[in-house]
Amino acid sequence: MKILVTGGLGFLGSHICVELLENNDEVVVVDNLFNSKMEVKDKIQEITGKEIKVYIGDCADEILMDKVFLENAIDSVIHCAGLKAVGESVEKPVWYYQTNLGTTLNLLKVMQNHQCKKIIFSSTATVYGVPEKPQVDETFETGKTTNPYATSKYMIERILEDVYVSDKTWSIGILRYFNPIGAHKSGLIGEEPNGIPNNLMPYILKVAKGELPVLSVFGDDYDTPDGTGVRDYIHVVDLAKAHLKAVNKLKEGAGIYKYNLGTGIGYSVLDIIRNFEKVNGIKVNYKIAPRRAGDVAACYSNPAKAEREMGWKAEKNIEDMCKDAWNFAKNK
Ligand code: UFG
Repeated sequence: MKILVTGGLGFLGSHICVELLENNDEVVVVDNLFNSKMEVKDKIQEITGKEIKVYIGDCADEILMDKVFLENAIDSVIHCAGLKAVGESVEKPVWYYQTNLGTTLNLLKVMQNHQCKKIIFSSTATVYGVPEKPQVDETFETGKTTNPYATSKYMIERILEDVYVSDKTWSIGILRYFNPIGAHKSGLIGEEPNGIPNNLMPYILKVAKGELPVLSVFGDDYDTPDGTGVRDYIHVVDLAKAHLKAVNKLKEGAGIYKYNLGTGIGYSVLDIIRNFEKVNGIKVNYKIAPRRAGDVAACYSNPAKAEREMGWKAEKNIEDMCKDAWNFAKNK
């Protein structure tokens, strides 16, 4: 199979490329290097011993995307490209909507022109907004989102539903990621956000390295076992493997399939700090700070549907996630 991975040099995309190559799929990447680096291509090739074809440019560029489809007989697309920082999206909503919707609409248009009708879309647990219960399954209401990033992902889900309604020969996979952390065991690829990190694990890594003085734990008065926020952290390699299963699922026939991708286990911020310290033998300096606007107390997945329908289940535990994240970051 020849698979196009948009954003294929990014954190999730690079791990997906590795799994596809190890599955003997051919991989074509389009990436604009906005939040990634060209050297990731070499790392992917070093890990797998296989070549990937990379086009540097934007998925919103119709001429480029047309060329990609003309030059490659693409079977399926895994669409990871997009902006993904919640806080930034609140400050720059127009940019977020234009980028996330614009790239997707152009991609879909070019796919239609080339009769490529299989797409897996990187969605997010944030489409559930503030869930009515902490453990979320796919039947929960979506759309009551709390920031433009989440809304843009929700809107794309709606667009994909409309595409399917208009043409029932499409096969569409919507994967709602919970909190991906960790890195490939080689330590060659991982998460490298630009600037000061927003997310918990990248921040912990900077503190552990001594590049930032202290981690602020946002709130210890939530209605959770230790008062800090609870999330469903999932190893990025498990997440990447789910995409292989989704590619197979789409081969079964046309349809629109939606899956939560998480472990089903909720860990608090303090659980993550303690596990990180224990597994890696490093102290993480932290202080309790006020709650962060927009955070919910607890949100974790019910991942049963993905197991039932795709035969996918997360295999790595919290120790693996903390160990592999540090293994990547400590050499940077
Ligand atoms: N947290 C801290 N200190 C920090 C950063 C985070 O205490 O410096 C806490 C948060 O308050 C929260 C938990 O750690 O309780 C996780 O926060 P993250 O920012 O790592 O992740 P979020 O759950 O807020 O959101 C993430 C991604 C989204 C994605 C979503 C999926 O940022 O892009 O998971 O649920 F959509």
